Amino acid sequence: MRAAITAVGGYVPEKVLTNKDLEKLVDTSDEWIQSRTGIKERRVMEDGTATSDICVASIEKILKKRSLKAEDIDLIIVATVTPDHVFPATANIVSDKLGAINAWGFDVSAACSGFLYALETGSKFIECGKHKKVIVCGADKMSAIVNYEDRNTCIIFGDGGGAVLLEPSEDENIGIIDSILKSDGSGREFLHQKAGGSMNPPTHETIDAREHFVFQEGKTVFKFAVTNMAQVSRDIMDRNNLTGADVDYLAAHQANLRIIDATAKRMELDQEKVLINIQKYGNTTAGTIPLLLSDFESKFKKGDNIILAAFGGGFTWGAIYLKWAYNS
Ligand code: UT7
Repeated sequence: MRAAITAVGGYVPEKVLTNKDLEKLVDTSDEWIQSRTGIKERRVMEDGTATSDICVASIEKILKKRSLKAEDIDLIIVATVTPDHVFPATANIVSDKLGAINAWGFDVSAACSGFLYALETGSKFIECGKHKKVIVCGADKMSAIVNYEDRNTCIIFGDGGGAVLLEPSEDENIGIIDSILKSDGSGREFLHQKAGGSMNPPTHETIDAREHFVFQEGKTVFKFAVTNMAQVSRDIMDRNNLTGADVDYLAAHQANLRIIDATAKRMELDQEKVLINIQKYGNTTAGTIPLLLSDFESKFKKGDNIILAAFGGGFTWGAIYLKWAYNS
């Protein structure tokens, strides 16, 4: 039995932070940010809100679209690096806020590849016949861990995310067909949050040293991202005998327009098949792919060949090949 995405929902907060706004905070320019990343603006959440709120808003859209009740959900998986708390899991908070009393759930931590890791995990519960309705969320409130005095990182990240509903596919040829997921923990030093975990618990010193914010060695991460996201996307095409002409859409992690372009080139894809919304939201970490699916859902037709691809902290990366399950 295959698992298929049968509904999607996305959410971004109202508040917009433009490149011009960032010019007032750090030594940067709208021109530099746009030409190096493709980002024009990003969204930021209000104080007092958290990643669970992105998930809840996204799932509520799915329930409304499909006339489902929260009680109908069997399992909720949340991919995030900005959980509401270290514990309990954000998935527990999401199910409580929704009233999903029949669901169990857990969080997945795989940074920008988190949604792909969670989608792979969720699909297995459908494929083995254990569950009928699985929600997979990818969401991050990156503004909670971004240092708005560090121009290397604050220009890239934004808040937002989305969710998908996975159900058993009635048609054996439709749904999630194949996946390749990778990790290499030796890359952790180039993209991480130094303090706050069991290695470096919070102290006055860690706060003063600004170790609770995202650290990224951009150039190194860029090099690994370009090579690996392009390679894994090409590998999944070759393994499934797909040419660039066979692929209808690429939904790639939105970290940098230049990385997405390099991946599309390697896949030999025409420009109109490459889904892009980085200009509006920046890099929402685990949120980018469900947000893309939600933004472009109306374009998708039943049977479309879609490749999802990501690269992120860990390092983690991967690609998933699916055949879209419905006409919107
Ligand atoms: O999502 C998870 C994975 N993350 C990624 O995939 C992100 C990968 N990395 C990137 O996207 C890029 O490396 C960045 C967008 C972060 C940076 O772009 P870059 O082209 O790699 O710039 P750079 O760090 O090599 O810096 C180039 C120059 C430097 O100046 P010099 O040494 O050439 O004089 C930097 O100091 O640009 C300078 N610079 C900036 N200038 C204006 C760095 N950041 C900024 C800035 N505004 N925000």
